Amino acid sequence: MTSRPEFAARTAGMRPSKLRELVAAAARPSAGDVPGPTLLSLGGGLPPAEAFPARAVAEAAERALAGAAGAALQYSATEGDPELLDLVGADLAGRLRLPDPTGRLLVTTGSQQALDLIGKVLLDPGDVAVVESPAYVGALRALAGYQPRIVEAPVDDDGMDTELLAGRLRAGLRPKLCYLVPNFSNPSGRTLTARRRTRLAQLAARYGFLIVEDDPYGQLRFAGADLPPVAADAAEQVVYLGSFSKLVAPGLRVGYLAAPRWLHRALAVAKQATDLNSAALSQRLLVELLADPDWFAGHLAGLRDLYRVRAEALTGAVADRLAGRLATPMPDGGMFVWASVQTPGIDALALARAAMRRAVSVVPGNEFSLADGYPRHLRLSFSMLGPAGLVAAVDRLGDAFDDLTASG
Ligand SMILES: Cc1ncc(COP(=O)(O)O)c(C=O)c1O
Repeated sequence: MTSRPEFAARTAGMRPSKLRELVAAAARPSAGDVPGPTLLSLGGGLPPAEAFPARAVAEAAERALAGAAGAALQYSATEGDPELLDLVGADLAGRLRLPDPTGRLLVTTGSQQALDLIGKVLLDPGDVAVVESPAYVGALRALAGYQPRIVEAPVDDDGMDTELLAGRLRAGLRPKLCYLVPNFSNPSGRTLTARRRTRLAQLAARYGFLIVEDDPYGQLRFAGADLPPVAADAAEQVVYLGSFSKLVAPGLRVGYLAAPRWLHRALAVAKQATDLNSAALSQRLLVELLADPDWFAGHLAGLRDLYRVRAEALTGAVADRLAGRLATPMPDGGMFVWASVQTPGIDALALARAAMRRAVSVVPGNEFSLADGYPRHLRLSFSMLGPAGLVAAVDRLGDAFDDLTASG
């Protein structure tokens, strides 16, 4: 037997994903190595390749290297490239009316790093972290590494139910933080109403917790009007997270946060230990892209159209072909529909497995809850397939329903 050291206790909270099990099954060759039908993905929440501005990125990289190769290829400031910080700060102050973000910004290696840094500086084992439910899996995993007691706060049609949370706070719950995605959440597709945004900020001030406002999809709104962020009226109570992953490309790995003043330095110091700085080349490249605001605005408008057409195609195909079996509320933006199974006796995990046998991937709802609270839900992403692909995927989902009803 090899003698080896024990893993740290915190690894106990690091749970493997059922999603990976499904994806791994899909990657295995079909029987006798005869290729099966191409897998149609309603599973992953990734931008499709056609959403990437590859030519603009290549030209921006050329300019970044020609102009300031020394800066683009060098280590850089932990807080982030000063020009990128200026551009992000001006955007947040204008678009989101965030009060003077200067000195509160930190460029992060994706929002995922922001989630990890927040856990690192705030959570001791046993501390309470409230998380909207269903929750973004990456947030559950990032926080779980710091061994908090994670309390799930349910979401309804209007986003996180702040009155339910208020009741739990009155009853003695004392969280250090409360995590949510206020716009077109992953996975629920729901948007927190303006009234609840204000209410949540009041609760945070009253009970002394930090709101983690994760907003990677806010600029991908294709219906309705923008709402002010929770942070707009509560800058000292909210850390706001933004990301270029869904707006330009996740491969750049650039996001940012606007933190309360009392938290900013601790996060920057924690980041120094984690990775010194986020990739300087990616940041210079974004400076080059954002320096042309007309280009960026046109690019975002194109993305919003792309996702609107796809969201309509998916929800329309489900209404046509799976009425009475699956309900799919249309979101106002983002990439996700939170579908509920209507057929009695059909469990979402069984349906996801049956769908995989029919070469279509979906994510079962329980992936998004530590308490397995969503056995009748699926997350469907409309980002990866064009309208015809989405219709074909819904047809295959219909076959998967038939398979399950036929097998009893
Ligand atoms: C809600 C949410 N937060 C954060 C992330 C992580 O994004 P990033 O690429 O910026 O790390 C994702 C990615 O899918 C997400 O959906």
